[in-house]
Amino acid sequence: MEQEDRFRNIISHCKEYGFIFQSSEIYDGLSAVYDYGGYGTELKNNIRSYWWKAMVQYRENIVGIDSAIFMHPTIWKASGHVDAFNDPLIDNKDSKKRYRADTLIEDYLAKQDDKIEKEVEKAKKRFGEKFDEPLFRATNARILEIKNKADAVSERFKKAMNENDLAALKGIIEDCEIVCPISGSRNWTDVRQFNLMFSTGMGAMEENANTLYLRPETAQGIFVNFLNVQKTSRMKIPFGIAQTGKAFRNEIVARQFIFRMREFEQMEMQFFVQPGSELEWYNYWKEKRLAWHHTLGFPKENYRFKDHAKLAHYANAACDIEFAFPFGFKELEGIHSRTDFDLKSHEKFSGKKIQYFDPELNSSYIPYVVETSIGLDRMFLAVISQSLVNEKLDDGTDRDVLKFPPFLAPVKAAILPLVKKDGLPEMAMEIFHRLKFMVYCQYDEKDSIGKRYRRQDAIGTPWCITVDHQSLQDKTVTVRDRDTMKQERVAIAEIERIVMEKVDVIPALKRL
Ligand code: GAP
Repeated sequence: MEQEDRFRNIISHCKEYGFIFQSSEIYDGLSAVYDYGGYGTELKNNIRSYWWKAMVQYRENIVGIDSAIFMHPTIWKASGHVDAFNDPLIDNKDSKKRYRADTLIEDYLAKQDDKIEKEVEKAKKRFGEKFDEPLFRATNARILEIKNKADAVSERFKKAMNENDLAALKGIIEDCEIVCPISGSRNWTDVRQFNLMFSTGMGAMEENANTLYLRPETAQGIFVNFLNVQKTSRMKIPFGIAQTGKAFRNEIVARQFIFRMREFEQMEMQFFVQPGSELEWYNYWKEKRLAWHHTLGFPKENYRFKDHAKLAHYANAACDIEFAFPFGFKELEGIHSRTDFDLKSHEKFSGKKIQYFDPELNSSYIPYVVETSIGLDRMFLAVISQSLVNEKLDDGTDRDVLKFPPFLAPVKAAILPLVKKDGLPEMAMEIFHRLKFMVYCQYDEKDSIGKRYRRQDAIGTPWCITVDHQSLQDKTVTVRDRDTMKQERVAIAEIERIVMEKVDVIPALKRL
């Protein structure tokens, strides 16, 4: 299936099965803002909880907090967001569409990579078994031509971004003959900076109101609470503070469903370390965070690291964990070595000392920070797009199934009476009332059993438990495995154990 069709299928599946709805839909929607439905909320909660378990509960040196969205406006001056949290935007004069100049160039570079891969695929088919791929990549004239050109553009791009050189960005767009995807024209405006923070007012009278910003990252709530948490939790460096919560960005180009939203949720952790040790910790967290992703069991080749072309104003090293989304490899998580920039700046702007006394060194210092930052909604998109498959079955039909890692599945078990009579619903209800204390499960008696299995497949339920006439006689039920569709007859007394074994999160945590 073409990438675009696959992505469209994922979006419509999310709506049809109550995972995600467009915000304010009955008012024609609000761009790049989404609501989560019943199953979506469960899945989102499960992803958040898995992150929290791995990052807070599982570690003795990370403390979880929940800071407010509203914060003192000077925080955003100190953090650099008022002056530097900008995206370079460019308009196409014909389509009147607005783009991020850096995204246009990144897309152009990704297309060059695709061209190279196509050449390799063609050659693979042509040469068959004799094909020497590394040699071909290193010597083929067409590949070298594309690669050299792309490398040169990439160098210019890096330089322009690092120097905030907007004219140079426009120059690259012109030289690469990048066209507007809507109008197909190259009739571009100049590149301008655009601040991404939303502002609002606090106070009863508008004229006296203080301007507040909706936080564009949760991290600042952690920095300004550094000493509170360190002292009250009696933490010694190195230690971390984690939180999950909403963040807001007035994205210029909010496309690709929940990939880039204006209101979204982040799961962030700041790890405070001795100055000079930050790059060691940066590498440590790169490895740990990739391992967390791998525990989900998706193909490892769907993840890769990418160093940032332009370091943010606060960083001395930074990379993304990219994931193979249906529209290509894109950032899923950021890992940043933020130096002492934030704490130092808050010290300066607040006039309060923000230092740590290190008993080992017998001296005080401002700690350095390594941050891991992942979007919960983006993680949701990665999980759902990787899990949704359309399977052809032996009887010629097909099924849509969400093959979630079982511990992330919204509904862990469905309890289904084979028919709606003969005492089967009552018995199924009894099982439901036992299981509901352990996991989120569902009772369903509507439609044929086949249709009910399909419905549960489509929302990713790992187990379907069916109560039939034999159950009345020997107190057994069938349990159907979502992935193999195999059914096994087991004693009702065993149900809790079987369900819990499969949906248990502990084996995944132990692999970390
Ligand atoms: N505190 C650092 C920070 O916020 P970032 O790279 O700007 O770094 C971190 O954002 C993560 O937040 C990204 O990797 C992405 O998963 C998520 N994210 C950022 N902007 C987003 C948006 N507009 N919509 C959804 N997720 C977003």
